[in-house]
Amino acid sequence: MSSGPSISGTVILCGYASPMYIVMVASECSPAAQAGGLGDVVSGLSRELELRGHAVEIVLPKYDCMRYEHIWGLHLVHEDLRVPWYGGAIGCSVWFGFVHGRKCFFIEPHARDRFFNRGAYYGFADETLRFAFFSKAALEFLLQSGKRPDVIHCHDWHTALAPVLLYEIYQYHGMHDQRVCFTVHNFRHQGIAGEDVLWATGLGKPQYYFDPLRMRDDSNASALNLMKGALLYSNFITTVSPRHAWEAMHTDQGFGLGHCLAVHQGKFGGVLNGVDYDAWNPEVDRRIPHRYGVHCLERKYANKEALRERFWLRRDFKPIVAYVGRLDPQKGVDLIRHAIFYSRQHGAQFVLLGSGSENGVHGQFCSLKRQLNEDPDCHLEIGFSDELAHLIYAGADMMIMPSLFEPCGLTQMIAMRYGTIPIVRAVGGLLDTVFDCDYSASPSPERNGYVFHQADPPGIESALRRAIRLWYDRPQAFRGLMENAMRCDHSWNRPGADYLNIYDYIRYKR
Ligand code: GLC
Repeated sequence: MSSGPSISGTVILCGYASPMYIVMVASECSPAAQAGGLGDVVSGLSRELELRGHAVEIVLPKYDCMRYEHIWGLHLVHEDLRVPWYGGAIGCSVWFGFVHGRKCFFIEPHARDRFFNRGAYYGFADETLRFAFFSKAALEFLLQSGKRPDVIHCHDWHTALAPVLLYEIYQYHGMHDQRVCFTVHNFRHQGIAGEDVLWATGLGKPQYYFDPLRMRDDSNASALNLMKGALLYSNFITTVSPRHAWEAMHTDQGFGLGHCLAVHQGKFGGVLNGVDYDAWNPEVDRRIPHRYGVHCLERKYANKEALRERFWLRRDFKPIVAYVGRLDPQKGVDLIRHAIFYSRQHGAQFVLLGSGSENGVHGQFCSLKRQLNEDPDCHLEIGFSDELAHLIYAGADMMIMPSLFEPCGLTQMIAMRYGTIPIVRAVGGLLDTVFDCDYSASPSPERNGYVFHQADPPGIESALRRAIRLWYDRPQAFRGLMENAMRCDHSWNRPGADYLNIYDYIRYKR
């Protein structure tokens, strides 16, 4: 990529001096509308770009289930946005509000289908139509309100149709200068759709779009793949870590899109996500009982006691191993369960905070919780709570992430900030951020956790055993590892610069 922008180490500066106008189109923005890490990235990156002097706006669906207490000054800005749909039109209201300082527009369709008024963000049978509508409405909103951003930054399959619509329709209505950056947070969900999406959005021409070089799904000739469309039509594609960019192209982690990515590799790269250190910083975190930093690490142990008290764990001289995150097959649920039993049997306590996105997994963990309810060395909390998450990051000694695949992962980066040692599987962003205490090729000051390779019980045991042993046998060395972890810089500073380079590159490249 000799003439490309600077990403993941290859520095070819384009000199982005002039302020840009960037519009993010996404299905989530934390903390108002959030189901996973996507929401954190949309808000964190937008904030960083604004701090660097660029104008950023975010377009989102107006879900009934949003956390409205996190939206300030919500008011109507567009009463009747007519969005063409199936040869007719759906009237929408567009709202504006600040989400922790970010400027957000919310699209509310007045459709019989109640697209975003269903009590949940995701999980409906007509998912591709819901988000095809959102993508169409977002562009229609930009068009009708005269907004002409330099870059439209779309995220995940929900907004994958936006670059297609821009190129095939909206450029002929005056939006010819807009460029699109598309970020894949998860290749597993690609938006597999039927022909109806074409008729609904006004694209039509099924023969044209069902061409294998356009949007026809590579494994199902009668389906469209919206994400494949985005890969083709966007000016630049990123995923959320350099390692995952490689995996998506060269292993089964591209979930069938590897070939398409290889074709477009000249405009594809990995940019590691950042963490919002305003929200996640033990030195100023108001949600934890005792604030601490790398120079007053002892105070972390007061949080450990608070965590034990909160979860009725016995006070004992033992490390606490934790898991915080979604209970999704992607996260290696069998290995999480294995780690719970292994930790208890090998001198550690275990705490878990997680919610299941699939019914089966959720049920399994609920019954595990009942089974372990009386255990003084273990507590499972099923559900999600921001406050508990902060307490666990601050109070635990180790954090496991045995993911089967992990495009980036935020948990390990947050854990490190809190001096909680990550124990991770060697995939995706985990491999880019965690360097094994014993086996890493990096110099010792950069070693910050434990890494294992095989996604099986002996694999995770090999890392957990080493971590627990170091904690007991060489406390000074364990402390050194904590300090290394806390000194890592995973702020948005670097990724912010990387994205600006990409924007600048696509802005001037014809
Ligand atoms: C998805 C990925 C996760 C990533 C997050 C934000 O949830 O699974 O690895 O950190 O998106 O990009």
